[in-house]
This record gives sequence, structure tokens and C-alpha cells, in this order.
Amino acid sequence: MDNATRLHYLEAMGITIWVPRQRPIASEAEAMQSEALQNPVSQDVDYLQSVDQLAIQAEHIDLVGNHFNARSVPHDTLSFNNDWQTLQQQVAACQQCSLCETRTQTVFGVGNRHADWMLIGEAPGQNEDLQGEPFVGKAGQLLTEMLRAIGLRREEVYIANMLKCRPPNNRDPLPTEVQACHAFLQQQIILLQPKLILAVGRIAAQNLLNSKQTLSSLRGIRHQLHNIPLIVIPHPAYLLRSLLEKAKAWEDLQFALSVYKELEK
Ligand code: URA
Repeated sequence: MDNATRLHYLEAMGITIWVPRQRPIASEAEAMQSEALQNPVSQDVDYLQSVDQLAIQAEHIDLVGNHFNARSVPHDTLSFNNDWQTLQQQVAACQQCSLCETRTQTVFGVGNRHADWMLIGEAPGQNEDLQGEPFVGKAGQLLTEMLRAIGLRREEVYIANMLKCRPPNNRDPLPTEVQACHAFLQQQIILLQPKLILAVGRIAAQNLLNSKQTLSSLRGIRHQLHNIPLIVIPHPAYLLRSLLEKAKAWEDLQFALSVYKELEK
């Protein structure tokens, strides 16, 4: 990506306020570009890792590796041996909660099924419900720009939501709805076996980590979900309302990238 394009993406994220004063903006972009070139994001996934290795356990691990909370994630009644196609069909036919009555369609997930990076959001909004794809509205466009800013194309990652159906009027998901969709998401994680999970937004983060902590206290920490590192980033819809938060989001993305690069070593 050339500098002008990268700067365009960074600007779309409000990056102009993130550039240190002592450094001209062009050199910042060049530094990022050369770093991205030196550390290309691999799409390789180790398929040999068995499903059994995915201990059904969520735990938080801080940056120095201390475990400070752990819980068991209950298995659901669905089989964990589905292939992608069967799973997608099950999701499309799902009537486990009342959201099936108001949805236009289910929103399964999109992207590279061999991706190293998995992004998990909260639930489809109006645009996603209409188009059947996660993160396609304004917030989705910003999420795509955020990924581009760290050298990832949307098609390279896998994007899913906790809920596969839109809650009416974009209200927060109910615990019963999260529970009803839980097994679908677990199976997506098992099929994908990502190297890194990004929890997009407070609600996704709190549910995935079974935590009531604030977004800011969950940020900047290498959590674990099924032995997969999980990093929390703010929801792009939230970032659309706050330039200052975009600055912090940039740090979160850099942190995620550094965790990913550590895994590659
Ligand atoms: N917000 C989400 O969390 N997911 C989407 O797909 C769209 C908006």
C-alpha cells in the first residue's frame, strides 16, 4: 500500500491526532509501512491442532502471564463435529430464540476460513440484517479501515458476531439470546482455529470473557479464550463518536499486532 493510501486509511480512523509531534506524518506512515513489509501477516493455520486441544475454558491472563480468573464454558446441545456448510445451514434454520421472528436473515460470518485473525462483534445491525454480512454499515467500514491501518485486508480475516440475528432496534443482546447462539460461535472458533481473536466492543468482550469489567479495564491485556489469545478493541460505532477514543483504539490495534507477531516467533 502506498503512503497516500495508508494515510487516507489512518485519517479515516482519526490518526492525525495520533502522530507524535516530533515526527512528521510521512515518516510515521513510512515507518508503519516498512514494519508491515518486514512482518507480513501470514494466513497459514495449523490444521493439525486437534479440536481436543481447544480446552473449553475461558481465562484471563495478564501481560506477565498471571491467571486471575477462570471459568468453564458450558457445552451446548449441538454437535461439535459440524463442517462449515452444515453449521451455516443450522444457523440459517435456527429458531432457538425469538429473534428469528424479526430477522430478515441470519448473519453467519464472513471472511477467510483459514484466517489467523478472528474478529467477534456483538450482533448484526440493520444493514447487516439486510445484507446478511457482519459489519457492513458505517461502523463496519471503519472496522475495515482499522484493519487496513495495521496491514490487514478484510478478506484476510474472519468476522463473526456473538448473535447471528439482529436484536430489534439494535438493543443490547439479552443473556438468553447470547446463550442460544453460544454453540454456533463456539463451533465457528473450533472450525477456524484462529491464532488471535479480537473481541470487538464492550458487549462482545464482556460476554466472551464472562466479565463485568469496563471496556477500558479489559483493554491492553492478553486474555485467553480456548487457549487462543484474545485482545479487546473498542467497537467502531463507539469510535465514530469519539476522536479521542480512536487514538486509544490505535494503541489497541498495535497491541494486537504485537501479540500476533510474538506468536509468529
Ligand atoms: N455491530 C456489531 O457488533 N456487529 C455487526 O455486524 C455490526 C455492528
